[in-house]
Amino acid sequence: MEAPTKQDWNAERYQRDAGFVARLGQGVVELLAPRPGERILDLGCGDGTLTEVIAASGAEVIGSDSAPDMVAASQGRGLDARLMDGHELAFDAPFDAVFTNAALHWMTQPDRVLDGVTRALKPGGRFVGEFGGHGNVAAIRTALHEALSRRQQDPLALSPWYFPSPDAYARRLENHGFRVEEIYSFPRPTPLPSHLPAWLEIFAQAFLAPFSENERSEILEEVTDRLRPILCDEEGKWTADYVRLRFAAKREG
Ligand code: BEZ
Repeated sequence: MEAPTKQDWNAERYQRDAGFVARLGQGVVELLAPRPGERILDLGCGDGTLTEVIAASGAEVIGSDSAPDMVAASQGRGLDARLMDGHELAFDAPFDAVFTNAALHWMTQPDRVLDGVTRALKPGGRFVGEFGGHGNVAAIRTALHEALSRRQQDPLALSPWYFPSPDAYARRLENHGFRVEEIYSFPRPTPLPSHLPAWLEIFAQAFLAPFSENERSEILEEVTDRLRPILCDEEGKWTADYVRLRFAAKREG
């Protein structure tokens, strides 16, 4: 998981309230189709859940993440994980593939990320991943934007998220010398293990950063009340309005 600023990652809390993110990423590992002996980078490896799945294929995997607690959790699984900002990827030897799940949406300068991915790959190497696509958590964003605007804060300036459309991201990939093999977005309504405030406290920290403790509680309550009729069912179960962007591309040789 990667974030430019004001985002504090706690591996234990993430596993409890957002462990579904990696579980839902298994299909991306299938799209990667790792082979024994391949050298693979897991960009934004988080706590290493999927890095471990890739390693089980017999590939040699290195994980990178900008959050010290996540890197420590990956290393705790016996994985080779490096503390590194996804905007500044630097490795000694090139990779056969770069894999990424639920991380690119935290990297708000996509061209810098793609520069690093290009440098990291052998010619003909694969770049395969999934992250938030255009329209991701639109209802949640709308409610957050309203709550912040009412308090004279610019939500766009505070947003740590990048959610491109397939066309826009395909163009960036092509501009970096990739051949796009597939790219599409799809809605993935995602049931939350607890309730919306717990999700907001993990994922929306950057929006809450300018506020006092009291104001944050007020905003969480306001956003939750606003979204209850939309994202919460009659039994109190919350579903986040995720949209995912999935792609597979090859670095032209
Ligand atoms: C995610 O990591 O899946 C995510 C992050 C920010 C907003 C929505 C989803």
